Amino acid sequence: MSEVILSGIQKAFGDNLIVKGVDLQIRSGEFLVMLGPSGCGKTTLLRLIAGLEQIDEGELRINGRRMNEVPPRDRDVAMVFQSYALYPHMTVRENMAFGLTLRKMDKAEIARRVQEAAQLLELSDLLDRKPKQLSGGQRQRVAMGRAIVRQPSIFLFDEPLSNLDTALRVQMRGELARLHRRLKATMIYVTHDQVEAMTLATRVAVFNGGLLQQCGEPLELYHRPANRFVGGFLGSPSMNFVAASRTGATLSGQGFSLPAPADLDAEVRGDLLLGLRPQDLRIAPDGVFRGEVEAVERLGFDGFAFIRTEAGSIAARFDKGVDVKVGDRVAVAPVGDAVHVFTADGTKALRHPSLPSAPTTVEMAS
Ligand SMILES: Nc1ncnc2c1ncn2[C@@H]1O[C@H](COP(=O)(O)OP(=O)(O)O)[C@@H](O)[C@H]1O
Ligand SMILES: [Mg+2]
Repeated sequence: MSEVILSGIQKAFGDNLIVKGVDLQIRSGEFLVMLGPSGCGKTTLLRLIAGLEQIDEGELRINGRRMNEVPPRDRDVAMVFQSYALYPHMTVRENMAFGLTLRKMDKAEIARRVQEAAQLLELSDLLDRKPKQLSGGQRQRVAMGRAIVRQPSIFLFDEPLSNLDTALRVQMRGELARLHRRLKATMIYVTHDQVEAMTLATRVAVFNGGLLQQCGEPLELYHRPANRFVGGFLGSPSMNFVAASRTGATLSGQGFSLPAPADLDAEVRGDLLLGLRPQDLRIAPDGVFRGEVEAVERLGFDGFAFIRTEAGSIAARFDKGVDVKVGDRVAVAPVGDAVHVFTADGTKALRHPSLPSAPTTVEMAS
């Protein structure tokens, strides 16, 4: 069990500041996912925690101890890389044992740990194979096995599933969650995939441009994004954004107006940005936003219509029974008070919709 605290962490490569002052507390035993677009500095931050890069400014603490000057091998962390980085000439057993052999660990203890990890990862029958005789998923498991045998208190994962096909990714996601429950170790997991983040994380830390945008439980981020970036990054299709201004009890913009939510602070006036999730919009004859349907995605159970309105392109969910075609003129309206309000520049959320009430529990007759 280990707590990791990042305080004001900065890292530059040459003149490029890549990690721009990150404060984050990772709790002991949690599955923290660092989520963000490609190039936002996730791998760099993970390598700073592992000790593979030097921290320029700020402090890294693990279990209260300053780690900035501590070499990687003494940090009690193990990293699983995006490229599995297996040694091609070694067997699975040798690959898994390699780090321990380097540390001159007792041979019997190494054998015991490799056996145990292989069992956990269902690799027991493959221990004498070479990497090229394994599937992608099996190689990924060996890479994880190599971290597990070290029995670190902190695991660092850098997009470990990104090289696998969709079906295998879903399966490995389940296995990772199981592994976390079994090992109860602190896991820090980097990905650009919001589905991985939403399904695996106890908390998600969203990054953009080397800065932490928000950290919280997955649904908290989805329902209460702190700014436009987080609102737009989580959810599919992406949240719709429209420019609006408030006068009295009305929010209006290009070609639309709607009542301001009753709980919107009276101080909030002038130019604003509205955020509308496609799932919170319905096609309705007296809708707020009007326009022509440009594209339709039917997913079976429901679908999404993409509508060109004066306020910009808007995606809206529709139920399977609804007939929508490209070229139709339609109107859409938010359900209830489902409007997020941000400052005009999108840097700060000012208001979120009230949360949907918890689903009613249905008593099943036995
Ligand atoms: N060793 C390095 N030298 C110079 N630039 C680097 C180095 N490592 C990463 N970068 C740059 O830092 C930025 C962030 O990279 P990275 O941390 O890999 O992002 P992510 O993992 O979020 O995609 C990129 O622009 C990348 O080119
Ligand atoms: Mg990366």
